[in-house]
Amino acid sequence: MNNCIGVFDSGVGGLSVLRALRGRLPGVPLRYLADSAHAPYGGREAAHIIGRSLALTQRLLEDGATLIVVACNTATVQAIAALRERWPALPFIGVEPGIKPAAAQTRTGRIAVMATAATVASARVQRLVEQHAGDAEVLLQGCSGVVDVIERADGDSAALLEVLRPYCERVRAFGADTVVLGCTHYPFVEPQIRELLGSAVQIIDTAQAIAERAASLWSGATSNGASLTLQTTGDPQALARMAAQWLRHDGDATRVMV
Ligand code: DGL
Repeated sequence: MNNCIGVFDSGVGGLSVLRALRGRLPGVPLRYLADSAHAPYGGREAAHIIGRSLALTQRLLEDGATLIVVACNTATVQAIAALRERWPALPFIGVEPGIKPAAAQTRTGRIAVMATAATVASARVQRLVEQHAGDAEVLLQGCSGVVDVIERADGDSAALLEVLRPYCERVRAFGADTVVLGCTHYPFVEPQIRELLGSAVQIIDTAQAIAERAASLWSGATSNGASLTLQTTGDPQALARMAAQWLRHDGDATRVMV
């Protein structure tokens, strides 16, 4: 598929961004590449995340992508500078925790970012806080283990609530009224996060803003029939099942070696 938007994530989480892209750009060919054989990225060294991001982008380019959406906060904060350095003429859109909209919406002046350990530890997120949090106090809450459960498709299980519970308790104790989902896997467990945080909390997810940005940058083909190609380094049936559940996409996924 030539001339498409290439989207990658460490696994299935980027489907939350893909969902917004499909809604905003219904006729644009999309290619999604999940690195589920190497997920999660959140506990990995920067060098590993950069190496995987370079390899996945290379693969998407070989398959015809002309715009790359890094649908992973962890890969964005750790690797997007290296991607832009390697392909200076290629447009990249990254996903970063929505600290700016959260700071604009909070009424108590306390916001929390729930994200992977690698994201909350990154210098880039530190900079986002310095540039955009203003007077708001920010809790950067690493949530190890959550991505693993989602990748195993245990979305409704008690295991998921148990792994989320201590993180949500810290967010509640901090007194945040606005919580940023700083990992693209988390929108798929938003009901569980809401259950643990209480319904008064505002939840910020940047998928729609990413789709708007893609719409403003896309200058390639559109057609009447939407075309979506799903690929994974892991289990294709698991990816197809999640795309059916979360995107109402009826189609297969294939396994690729990257
Ligand atoms: N979806 C990725 C993100 O947005 C998850 C990273 C991981 O694999 O730990 O950060």
